[in-house]
Amino acid sequence: MKKSVFAAAVVASFVASNIAKAEPQAEVLHWWTSGGEAKSVAVLQKEFADNGGTWTDMPVAGGGGDAAMTALRARVLSGNAPTAVQLKGPAIQEWYEEGVLADISAVAEEKGWDTVLPASIAGHMKCEGSWCAAPVNVHRVDWIWANADVLEANGIAMPNTWDEFNAAADKLQAAGVIPLAHGGQAWQDATVFEAVALGLGGPEFYQQALVDLDPAALQSDTMIAVFDQMRKLRGYVDGNFSGRDWNLATAMVMNGEAAFQIMGDWAKGEFLAAGKAPGEDFLCSSTPGNGYLYVVDSFAMFDVDGDDKKAGQNLLADLIMGPNFQEVFNLNKGSIPARTDVALDKFESCAHTSAADMAASSDEGSLLPSYAHGMALRGAQAGAITDVVTAHFNSDMSSADAVKMLADAVANSL
Ligand code: GAL
Repeated sequence: MKKSVFAAAVVASFVASNIAKAEPQAEVLHWWTSGGEAKSVAVLQKEFADNGGTWTDMPVAGGGGDAAMTALRARVLSGNAPTAVQLKGPAIQEWYEEGVLADISAVAEEKGWDTVLPASIAGHMKCEGSWCAAPVNVHRVDWIWANADVLEANGIAMPNTWDEFNAAADKLQAAGVIPLAHGGQAWQDATVFEAVALGLGGPEFYQQALVDLDPAALQSDTMIAVFDQMRKLRGYVDGNFSGRDWNLATAMVMNGEAAFQIMGDWAKGEFLAAGKAPGEDFLCSSTPGNGYLYVVDSFAMFDVDGDDKKAGQNLLADLIMGPNFQEVFNLNKGSIPARTDVALDKFESCAHTSAADMAASSDEGSLLPSYAHGMALRGAQAGAITDVVTAHFNSDMSSADAVKMLADAVANSL
């Protein structure tokens, strides 16, 4: 008995020292390919290389990550999972249930992640109590971005209600400006939809409809009003919106072709990467209404063979949660750090608004997970909702038909 315990200890220490000596390798699957996103992920690549790691990049273009998730599925099914994957929310749990995730608790516990993360964020990173993902940031989804000069030239202030938004958009349209820069991709429609649902319905409605999937909320008059507003917004979009990438829509606001964009604060990463200043070149404000829709980007490690890959996973996990990385990455990305102990001194005003609103909404119980960005629902339910939202936005479907279809689609996905 004693002998075998001794033998096991020898093996364990041999494995540990081999991992320690192994040169960290990581093939990293992500969808950060726009200007601001690429600048952000480059921070991690550099830190990884500076610490002796070899990074194999596996970018899969496509905002919101749909294409990346398809690529991931194919790789895992063929028994060749990437080392580290940009993965978030319930999808982390879904992959955990498939038994394909690596446990990064050793790093998390050694570095005391529990003491520097808000409990709600830590909760997304744990699978049955063990750590299965490392968070990089907190993005806010419910933002409106605007071209400051365009608004000024047209005597328009940032809207505080959806009626004000519509009035501003009518005025801009009459002046020959595209009111709303939008890319016709399903996830972008969903992004706008959830901001409208939160704004018109309020946090409780959002929770009931898009988190709890309450059939009554899904078919309510409030949901009809949400689709009515989506129809209005469709009228403020230019004719070429179909298939346009989100960052190209941001560029339309930047160059004054359009006035507003409703998009998460990764759009701010684009403005900043282009040298634009908040308050001068572009304006930010939360979309009309109360509450805060959050996205926490994170990386999960997949179960892979090889000490070099395991060493790469441990190094990556450690770097991702490092205070320096959390600062520099988020300065570029448009988000705020997931760690609560990173000072925001170097961040600009929109980030300060985000942090203050996040704290206030957490106190008020209106800090809510984004359904459109995979934080609130499992893939099947989120996909069912998005299909209806995008079908409505791209047709002349009535709001009454849309809510009926929505309730049916959700019921069938459960
Ligand atoms: C979100 C993601 C962001 C950003 C955005 C556009 O889902 O959380 O980090 O990448 O998609 O690609």
